[in-house]
Amino acid sequence: MRILITGAHGQVGQALVAALQDTHTLLRPQRNELDISHSTVVGRIIEQAPELVIHSAAWTNVDACAREPDQALLINGLGTKHVVLACQALDIPLVYVSTNEVFDGSATRPYLEYDQPRPINPYAYSKWVGEQVVQQLLRKFYIVRVAWVFGGPRNFVQTMVRLAQERSELAVVDDEIGNPTFAPDIAEGIARLIEQPAYGTYHLVNDGHCSRHEFAREILQQVGRSDVHVRPIKLAEYKRDSTPPPFGALRNFVAATDLGIQLQPWQTALRTFLAQLSQPHDA
Ligand SMILES: NC(=O)c1ccc[n+]([C@@H]2O[C@H](COP(=O)([O-])OP(=O)(O)OC[C@H]3O[C@@H](n4cnc5c(N)ncnc54)[C@H](OP(=O)(O)O)[C@@H]3O)[C@@H](O)[C@H]2O)c1
Repeated sequence: MRILITGAHGQVGQALVAALQDTHTLLRPQRNELDISHSTVVGRIIEQAPELVIHSAAWTNVDACAREPDQALLINGLGTKHVVLACQALDIPLVYVSTNEVFDGSATRPYLEYDQPRPINPYAYSKWVGEQVVQQLLRKFYIVRVAWVFGGPRNFVQTMVRLAQERSELAVVDDEIGNPTFAPDIAEGIARLIEQPAYGTYHLVNDGHCSRHEFAREILQQVGRSDVHVRPIKLAEYKRDSTPPPFGALRNFVAATDLGIQLQPWQTALRTFLAQLSQPHDA
């Protein structure tokens, strides 16, 4: 298939390229070649005649989105509308990568695919607008919600490893819950999903969930730095511009039950990622 990937140079995008490049023809424009916030992008995508689009591009800096909500809405909401209009004109399917943050975090069990979103911060609102546009304008779509992604060069895992080299104690929140999820596992899941026209909403997260505090402790334990004390703090003590959903864990029910697509436990995925990090890089 001829697949156009937006955000192909981001964390999830790079994993998608690795998972799909041997079996598909990939179009992977840089942001300066295909800026989704401009309406001209509709025609630019149509010209390239993809047979499927994976829309992974987004403004993912949640705190910056909180400071500039209109810009978040422009890139993540209207930007998605531009991509959607191109797919509508071409009559091709779209995969929209969305987020656990569309939920308000007041649940007492992991969110299922058909639970009601209620975004509580500007980033989440802009991503939910993207979901609305996809659902309203397309018939052939996969909405794939993911969470707490690691696998790229900058994420929570590397931050914890780096801070452990600099400090003997870290303070990490214990009342924000989510699913640490390995970007290559998301990409493999999407690669299997697009083999079939099983359109709808999916939660592709690694199995299990934890607090940020538990995640940090597992990272340090796996890198042999359990000596670093991880002090639990509350979200209310950690000053930042965005407010995350406190209980933002997702449950993969639909892909696992209907299609047999289940991602490995997050602890196993973390072990794989840390092993990759410790490998010498190619020259
Ligand atoms: N990271 C997470 O923990 C997480 C959690 C839940 C959901 N998600 C969702 O997963 C998807 C991928 O996230 P990620 O972690 O891979 O993010 P990322 O590493 O920040 O990558 C985002 C990509 O989007 C591109 N982009 C940003 N603005 C753009 C624009 N106006 N036009 C075209 N491209 C633009 C970026 O290009 P530049 O590098 O040039 O800016 C980058 O390549 C996003 O849709 C995000 O909402 C992520």
